[in-house]
Amino acid sequence: MANLNRDGFGSRFGVLVAVAGSAVGLGNLWRFPYMVGNNGGAAFIIIYLLFVILLCLPIMFSEFIIGRRTQSNVFGAINKLAPKSPFLSIGIISVAASISIMSFYSVVGGWTLEYIFKSFSSGFLTADSTALASQFSGFSTASFMPVLMHLLFLGLSALIVVAGIKNGIEKYSKILMPALFFLVILLAIRSVTLDGAGAGVRFLFYPDFSKITGETLLSALGQAFFSLSLGMGCIITYGSYVNKKENLFKISLMTVAADTGFAILAGLAVMPAVFAFGISPGQGPSLVFITLPQIFAQLPFGNVVSIAFFFILLTSSS
Ligand code: ALA
Repeated sequence: MANLNRDGFGSRFGVLVAVAGSAVGLGNLWRFPYMVGNNGGAAFIIIYLLFVILLCLPIMFSEFIIGRRTQSNVFGAINKLAPKSPFLSIGIISVAASISIMSFYSVVGGWTLEYIFKSFSSGFLTADSTALASQFSGFSTASFMPVLMHLLFLGLSALIVVAGIKNGIEKYSKILMPALFFLVILLAIRSVTLDGAGAGVRFLFYPDFSKITGETLLSALGQAFFSLSLGMGCIITYGSYVNKKENLFKISLMTVAADTGFAILAGLAVMPAVFAFGISPGQGPSLVFITLPQIFAQLPFGNVVSIAFFFILLTSSS
């Protein structure tokens, strides 16, 4: 029997932004651009899109169905569907996956928090990538501040979760997701209009299939699952809060479209700037923390844009 006191999403728009908010996060804005950079650009994007459409969309739809049908988190859902069977290990593995993702995700979340504070200081935004790179490595390898920021990030995430579905996750997603979308479009426009940005746009959209290896396939698959929050219990749990009237296939389709759109926009915000500023596209996890401040430095009210961007990135990751 359905639990009538169970919290749930209040409106269709609320469901969409909250579910899109669960998928959109560091995976799109931080991980996608550097995965593209490390794996040869457009060829990686094409493989990524094929995995998203052919494999991830049906899996997301299934996870939503399982969650709504069982009204449970991932462990409870599998336990209801296949009690005392070896399938229970799927529930356990999903919980273990989300805990292990959280262990590094919250560290990067702490970096975004630090970058909000940094954005308040006048000397932070500069066009000098060497200064930004040494600032990033100085901070991320220090022993005290990253730990403090990590703990703060975990505390903030807990506050949103404790507020519940309607008054926490849905309420904040309704404001923050459209704001994040607007800011990423703004950054992408600035990035593609920089001198020398054309090479970055070509890198993103001109495929060189000779770069594809077995590792590229694995990276694209891993990125697609990570970005769409699949196999980590997240979508099953969100599904359990979706009203029976909603069409789950439509929600899956829109989530996949929003998440993929955000990833491509993030690529456009980062890669053209990477090429325009002469940074190596394959430099890995620090990419966003070095390139975006350079774009912000070239915008009017760059500090304000920087604070807004890292704040929204922080909350969309929470
Ligand atoms: N789907 C989440 C993200 O992309 C994990 O950040």
